[in-house]
Amino acid sequence: MNRICLALLMVGAWSEVVYALDREQRHGKALLEAQCARCHATGRTGRSPLSEAPPFRTFGEKLYDTDFEQRLQDGLTTIHPGMPTFRFGREDAEAAVNYLKAIQQRKKPK
Ligand code: HEC
Repeated sequence: MNRICLALLMVGAWSEVVYALDREQRHGKALLEAQCARCHATGRTGRSPLSEAPPFRTFGEKLYDTDFEQRLQDGLTTIHPGMPTFRFGREDAEAAVNYLKAIQQRKKPK
């Protein structure tokens, strides 16, 4: 048994896991694309169609506030006034936040 090969294989499999979105995150992504993409950039790249709307990948720390997910459930008017109200169910809010966490820019871009 070639241990080095096995180790490399495991590293390869691990990075797949880290970079691929899981099923829940893909669900969150679909929700956000459907409801928010006309103003916000919802992916890892690209500009927001509405220039005042921050790209989702720049939220960073904010996503880790304990109330962020709650705000998605309470309705997004609490996040930005003048917006149509979106309300997410608990599972949808969780999926959306998990997706958002997955696409955040790293602190230091390569
Ligand atoms: C009609 C355009 C529009 C749509 C649709 C929209 N947004 Fe926004 N959003 C904005 C603008 C403009 C800002 C920046 C100004 C502000 O914070 O009020 C913003 C800011 C935000 C912020 C940052 C607020 C903060 O606390 O700093 C979050 C989070 C956010 N949007 C989430 C969402 C989500 C999630 C959706 C989809 C469910 C969404 N937005 C849909 C226009 C929009």
